[in-house]
Amino acid sequence: MASLNLTSQSQSLFNKTHLQVSPSLSLSTAIQSGFVPKRASFQFQVPVTPRIVNMPLKAAAIVSSTTAEKPQKRYPGEAKGFVEEMRFVAMKLHTREQAKEGEKEVEKPEERAVPKWEPSVEGYLRFLVDSKLVYDTLESIVDKAAYPFYAEFKNTGLERSEKLAKDLEWFKEQGYVIPEASSAGASYAQCLKELSEKDPQAFICHFYNIYFAHSAGGRMIGKKVAEKILNKKELEFYKWDGDLKQLLQNVRDKLNKVAESWTREEKNHCLEETEKSFKYSGEILRLILS
Ligand code: HEM
Repeated sequence: MASLNLTSQSQSLFNKTHLQVSPSLSLSTAIQSGFVPKRASFQFQVPVTPRIVNMPLKAAAIVSSTTAEKPQKRYPGEAKGFVEEMRFVAMKLHTREQAKEGEKEVEKPEERAVPKWEPSVEGYLRFLVDSKLVYDTLESIVDKAAYPFYAEFKNTGLERSEKLAKDLEWFKEQGYVIPEASSAGASYAQCLKELSEKDPQAFICHFYNIYFAHSAGGRMIGKKVAEKILNKKELEFYKWDGDLKQLLQNVRDKLNKVAESWTREEKNHCLEETEKSFKYSGEILRLILS
């Protein structure tokens, strides 16, 4: 269990250095993110305490100036930039069947390995329609830019709305009836609109997860599903104009830049939103199997 057994002297040191534990970081997120090993106590994270408390003042000053010059990175991925922190939290929320870095137990059908899926064309169409609603919403939020920094994310080349419109047109030509969006897509769209207006850090978490998940697991899903039910037809949803790796890197750079001005609390708040992003996207993915 967490034990904060600090003397007043060490407490003040603790407060002054970069080793302060953020009050807004919930233990569950800390554990999920790998920040706190599952059975560790907070004392484990503060190894300076017993060493520094009994040191002569001069020695303590040397230690703290050395640590000030070389700040320890406490959050996994932090050294590489904030996107790497978001990626780290996201990867842990995958199941082992979905991705090798995943740690979550399989609880729902869409959390099984994609090759084990039994998709239907109608279910896949429901997924594409709901995905389009989500991308339409994201792209119009970024266009309107309620917070000026959203404008950084206009025309990144990752946009999917027009591509999905072409795919739905193709299905129509094949004689399929295009369904209305389901409650899964509608509630995610509503959530994104609300967050974009009142909680930009949470909104950015969804923005990152939606676009980057699609470029990774999403592409794999597209390939496997097409092999099973679409005679290997490659949909526009899985095609990008330009070099995808470069487009992703450009967006990573912009996200890292934006997050540089965030406080640690704002960053943690953004990371904590990852679970919600998986929940909403999981409900939309599940439509493929409906
Ligand atoms: C069937 C469902 C899913 C599968 C099979 C899957 C699989 C994968 C795989 C294989 C990777 C690449 C790992 C690597 O870089 O080695 C990945 C990355 C990722 N996934 Fe998923 N995933 C799924 C669902 C999701 C969901 C629901 C989200 C969040 C909404 C998500 C978010 C991400 C993110 C953010 C990355 C990192 C992308 C990057 O590094 O650029 N994934 N996923």
